[in-house]
Amino acid sequence: MAIVDIRDLRVSFGEKTVVSDASLAIESGETFSLIGASGCGKSTLLRVLAGLQREWRGEVSLFDSPVKAGARYHGQLRRNVQMVFQDPYASLHPNHTLYRTLAEPLKIHREQDIEQRVAAALQEVGLPADAAKRFPHQLSGGQRQRVAIARALLLRPKILLLDEPTSALDMSVQAEILNLLNRLKAQHSMTYLLVSHDADVIAHMSDRAGFMANGRIERFFDREALMRGEHRMG
Ligand SMILES: Nc1ncnc2c1ncn2[C@@H]1O[C@H](COP(=O)(O)OP(=O)(O)OP(=O)(O)O)[C@@H](O)[C@H]1O
Ligand SMILES: [Mg+2]
Repeated sequence: MAIVDIRDLRVSFGEKTVVSDASLAIESGETFSLIGASGCGKSTLLRVLAGLQREWRGEVSLFDSPVKAGARYHGQLRRNVQMVFQDPYASLHPNHTLYRTLAEPLKIHREQDIEQRVAAALQEVGLPADAAKRFPHQLSGGQRQRVAIARALLLRPKILLLDEPTSALDMSVQAEILNLLNRLKAQHSMTYLLVSHDADVIAHMSDRAGFMANGRIERFFDREALMRGEHRMG
């Protein structure tokens, strides 16, 4: 079953059309990666799926239900689709402790057992329990990205949108975070849509990939093509 189905997606900012006639279907359980030059519209496409970019045309279905342009996500949809951004420092509130950052989404969704859930979320991403008292600047870059991942997973989403989640990190830390993401994906039966500039990351992580150019997905690569390195262009 395709849990993401995009047909002829078009996004424009003023006069400029960034995404035009992009089509893509992602099966449940897949890791699908997007590659393409800077500015080709990868983040914009992810933001449409996350419900952050609400002005678009075309057809988008999530979990077999059509999403309406302009609509804010709420309820199950808001839980089920979560995004992790490139820069964890920018995506975490500098003056909030990790406890506050992680408790907030649980409170918004009126969840129970918030303290235990926050402790479990930290443990799940390999952070010590006493990290809850810390502020983002008291963490390393890798630890900050672990917090961002913990926050994204709190509501047990079905899809994780990963926008260059490791490109701000050192190589060794990058590998740790990618392995963590793979472990969590298997544990929680998630589907990933990953953006990365790194051909090795794409080959390591993906079941399939798409090359984005001229506003659309111009070329698809299956696992065999990725193993042969066909995505290592130019
Ligand atoms: N909110 C916005 N308003 C105006 N232009 C925007 C907006 N968001 C993105 N753009 C423009 O749309 C184009 C695509 O941006 P996008 O961030 O999707 O590219 P990208 O493929 O993610 O690039 P990168 O690899 O550098 O992250 C860029 O030219 C960008 O400047
Ligand atoms: Mg981007």
